[in-house]
Amino acid sequence: MNTQKLEIVELPKIVDPRGNLTFIEGHTHAPFEIRRTYWIYDVPGGEKRGGHAYRTNHELIVAVSGSFDVVIDDGTARRTHSLNRSYYGLYVPPGHWRELVNFSTNALCLVLASGVYDEADYIRNYESFNALRTGI
Ligand code: TYD
Repeated sequence: MNTQKLEIVELPKIVDPRGNLTFIEGHTHAPFEIRRTYWIYDVPGGEKRGGHAYRTNHELIVAVSGSFDVVIDDGTARRTHSLNRSYYGLYVPPGHWRELVNFSTNALCLVLASGVYDEADYIRNYESFNALRTGI
């Protein structure tokens, strides 16, 4: 697994007639040490989350329930990743602008992060993000 390449990670799925089970281990399925977990839920129809990049934080984003789209801008191109299965994660390295949109009713977005919350690690201004990416 390339630690700096954005990619969809297929997670283990233990199929069981009693109900399926999926797990994530740091350094194996998430290509970083997991230091924080947070989740986004009760998103009203039409609302967006994200709208920023991180300087150093790595994340693995999972649609544990329902679905949503993650729009990723790497400074060169913008691509939409639709997440709708609890056994796929989107690995997003630092330096990627993200927006989470099109949340379904009852969507649950689980995020595993490499760092604890640090507002100084955020780039919340798109022009600043672009300037950093292009080295201006
Ligand atoms: P933010 O990361 O901007 O949300 P989004 O997931 O939409 O990008 O965080 C929203 C608010 O929540 C902000 O005031 C910071 C706070 N917050 C924490 O205190 N700890 C956390 O781990 C996160 C992710 C956010």
